Amino acid sequence: MTMFNKLLDLSIIYSFDQSGYQRHARLFSELNAVKFAGKHFLVTGGSRGIGGAVTQALLAMGAEVTVTARTQQDFDANFAGQAGVSFQTLDLGNFEAIQTLHLGLYDGLVLNAGGMPSQPTLVDGQFDTIFGAQVVGHYLLLDRLIEEDRLRTGAPVHWVASGGMYLHKLQLDDLGWQQRPYDKVTSYANAKRAQVVLNGLLAQRYKKLVFSCSHPGWVGTDALAKALPGFTNRMGKRLRTAEQGADTILWCLEQRQQLKSGLFWFDRHPRQTRVFFWTQESEADRLALLALLESVKARY
Ligand SMILES: NC(=O)c1ccc[n+]([C@@H]2O[C@H](COP(=O)([O-])OP(=O)(O)OC[C@H]3O[C@@H](n4cnc5c(N)ncnc54)[C@H](OP(=O)(O)O)[C@@H]3O)[C@@H](O)[C@H]2O)c1
Repeated sequence: MTMFNKLLDLSIIYSFDQSGYQRHARLFSELNAVKFAGKHFLVTGGSRGIGGAVTQALLAMGAEVTVTARTQQDFDANFAGQAGVSFQTLDLGNFEAIQTLHLGLYDGLVLNAGGMPSQPTLVDGQFDTIFGAQVVGHYLLLDRLIEEDRLRTGAPVHWVASGGMYLHKLQLDDLGWQQRPYDKVTSYANAKRAQVVLNGLLAQRYKKLVFSCSHPGWVGTDALAKALPGFTNRMGKRLRTAEQGADTILWCLEQRQQLKSGLFWFDRHPRQTRVFFWTQESEADRLALLALLESVKARY
């Protein structure tokens, strides 16, 4: 990489934005449709935005896709009449519903659903929606898929995290925001940090699956416009498209066993999960996260 490119990457802005994607993508080769044809993928939050672009690309390459989301409206608007795609209602903050979801047999899983609601809703009496759905809900879904042998050996499991986690250290106190004023940006960064930590932990635990995690850059989706309208307006056309945001997710699915399990990716390159020493969690923190998730699992 040239010094100039390194400087642009260090600027963050000219890396996470659309120009960063275009610069990095100069070296990308086209995805190989053969690796997707006839395969069945489960994509949470696949009805619109980045997950919608993942679904659309998978279908175009001949895959079958099961999409989940809380509401069907966006799915109908984006996928009505298309072959190979089906929808199942699933609120990942509803842990009972995760246990009764109809499951198929999948060649890959994308844990993408997410957002940054302005108001917290208490989930399971102890989590806000962000942590409850994106971390605990996804963990319970993944756990069920593994326990019921619904993921083929070697299947890729991909977490869609965010660069927002770079500023945050994992913390597990007051995850329902009952003892302090709710701060959606901090909760989001914490949930995304937890996803990155889990990606590494689960890669060690489940050797038959290939875990990966990525951040998509800054993508002009509904979620971003609602969560950060000022930022969305300032960035304007410099935000990435949903297709650009989906690229590394699809690439990780395509690479499968060629990837080392448990890494964090951005624009098809493995990246550090920390840039600030104070965001390093301890082994005890990691074990506490797993213990917390297992304790929820034991109740559902
Ligand atoms: N946009 C960005 O710049 C950006 C940057 C970094 C990371 N990300 C991450 O990328 C992922 C996709 O974001 P996006 O920008 O594409 O958002 P989006 O356009 O709002 O799409 C979010 C998807 O998730 C579903 N969803 C949201 N909350 C859910 C819940 N509690 N249970 C089940 N499904 C839920 C939504 O459908 P329903 O509303 O019908 O449930 C929708 O299908 C998220 O994990 C987000 O954190 C985005």
